[in-house]
Amino acid sequence: MTSPASAQSHPVPSRVAAVPPPVDFATKARLRSRAVHLRMHRQSVRDPEKFWAGQARELLQWRRPFTEVLDWRRPHARWFADGRLNVAENCLDRHLATSRANKAALIFEGEPGDVRTLTYRQLHREVCQFASALARAGLRRGDRVAIYLPMIPEAVVAMLACARLGVIHTVIFGGFSAEAIKDRINDCQARLVITADGGWRRGRVVELKANVDTALAATPSVRQVIVVRRTGQEGVKMQPGRDVWWTDFVLGASPEHRAAAFPSEQELFILYTSGSTGKPKGVLHTSAGYLLGSMLTARYIFDLQESDVYFCTADIGWITGHSYIVYGPLANGATVLLYEGVPNQPGPDRFWELIERHQVTIFYTAPTAIRSCMRWGDEHVRKHNLGSLRLLGSVGEPISPAVWRWYHEVVGARRCPIVDTWWQTETGAIMVSPMPGVTPLKPGSCALPFFGVVPVVLDDTGREVPRGTEGRLFLKQAWPSMLRTLWGDGRRFRQQYWSEHPEYYFAGDGARLDSDGYLWVSGRIDDVLNVSGHRIGTAEVESALVSHPQVAEAAAVGRPDELKGQALVCFVVLKGALPTPAVSEELRRHVAKEIGPIARPDEVRLVAALPKTRSGKIVRRLLKQVAGGEEIRGDFSTLEDISVITALQTNV
Ligand code: WT7
Repeated sequence: MTSPASAQSHPVPSRVAAVPPPVDFATKARLRSRAVHLRMHRQSVRDPEKFWAGQARELLQWRRPFTEVLDWRRPHARWFADGRLNVAENCLDRHLATSRANKAALIFEGEPGDVRTLTYRQLHREVCQFASALARAGLRRGDRVAIYLPMIPEAVVAMLACARLGVIHTVIFGGFSAEAIKDRINDCQARLVITADGGWRRGRVVELKANVDTALAATPSVRQVIVVRRTGQEGVKMQPGRDVWWTDFVLGASPEHRAAAFPSEQELFILYTSGSTGKPKGVLHTSAGYLLGSMLTARYIFDLQESDVYFCTADIGWITGHSYIVYGPLANGATVLLYEGVPNQPGPDRFWELIERHQVTIFYTAPTAIRSCMRWGDEHVRKHNLGSLRLLGSVGEPISPAVWRWYHEVVGARRCPIVDTWWQTETGAIMVSPMPGVTPLKPGSCALPFFGVVPVVLDDTGREVPRGTEGRLFLKQAWPSMLRTLWGDGRRFRQQYWSEHPEYYFAGDGARLDSDGYLWVSGRIDDVLNVSGHRIGTAEVESALVSHPQVAEAAAVGRPDELKGQALVCFVVLKGALPTPAVSEELRRHVAKEIGPIARPDEVRLVAALPKTRSGKIVRRLLKQVAGGEEIRGDFSTLEDISVITALQTNV
């Protein structure tokens, strides 16, 4: 954990000319000037409790007002603890008494091109009816429900229905395999699973129900499975007594549902994310603080206004989908475009087609997607009229200045500010970002801390480094949307985030602050890779590899990749099998089966031995050099067997 930042994606320029915000943006924006922004930020960090209490009173609809703001017994935070509210009511019911009742909450477009719009009133009705059905099925506050769905309106309905009942949802990304589903369900002991017959992806059907069936062979906690008919495909097996179609499940359930008031710290969801061990971490978020964080950041950073059509390309299975497709935008009463499929189906211009067709004004995506679009060519963008766009966002990994400029010029026609937003599953909401229209932009930097956030960069000994120097990124103060713990593993929670420094939250990223206080994040410094914006733990990949009968030992590392950010390279020592290309291929398939297609190694190298220290620790630094085709250098004195180096470079 103390290795220097890998600076995997791009060299950080020392001095870049800032791009001034478009002149007229701020005249209509929520934040009118840089001065207002900086003053608010100063106030928010000087007296965070006062700031957050004010925002919480103004933005959230309380059933019982809070009197306590923060109870901070590091690392345990409780926000607004004696207050009561209902998260779903804050996302839906509150809009019904306003002109938003008949405003589109969701515009859904499936990959095959089918379109469905749900107004706030309609979405509310769906959520209420599904909540009634869940309650009728015996689901109670605190129970866990797993959601494994495509990007369809039912995914949003299911999440909000759980929230309405105080049932804890755990959304499992559709790209995960049966093994991964099983592990997550067993870890949180989910009682019920919500899935679909299949989903559309790249013109083909993803067999969601079949994956669930395989997983459920070893998940004793699950009693019921609700299945949305999405593809209408034949041959979906329904297990009598366990499986029920969504439409049958809600039949006769009341579309009216009185939302109960829950305490602020009511658990809202668990979201599994990769860490540096083989077992994913169940990040736990609770109600009021999380909702406030996602709502306030969405409001200011995306400058949400009544007439906006907001499009976030993330999947609902990731935190970005939770905070910036569901909770943040809906609490603000925004219109959200939900798209099911991939960016190049049927053609490489699908995103631009969607933007033009639905007159999208705010577009939020990841650098890996931007890099793909860039490679496919400007002509696909230029074919479409993107005049509706007024704001662009980026998230998930550092965006290189060249990619930033392409996004700014070709997609945004130099008219749209870009908000490069740094945050994590654990932070629940954006922590560092420019304020659109008021913060001068530096391509490649995520700019300035959001309200209430104080980033610090420390060296390996815990001392603050001088401005301009790379170090490890920490956050100084507690914030409302911070994770509360790791599900069932308070020790790991402490160890992972709160043991590197006695007072600060450890982010796991390398970064530096420049002389203007702008943050430049270089990437993970732990054994977590960022492959196409997906967070993948090397230890998870390694444990998947050694679960194969032919594998004696394995090590996974990242290699810089122009398109994916990082590519996944695995070094494997076989037990005795002949090292053939077929074996490499079989191991790649095996990892995809164990974790999911997103973790399929780009390369599996079969080697005679792995470089280790005398205490048996794999020396990843060397493997990274070999994987990246670099010359091997550095200190070899700790190696147990120096000849391994030659062995590594020649595949067996
Ligand atoms: C990691 C968190 C939070 C949404 C998506 C990913 C990297 C995220 C940025 C950015 C540079 C970024 C960090 C972070 N990251 N946003 N704007 N610039 N790096 O969530 O899966 O929890 O991953 O993504 O390395 O630690 P996540």
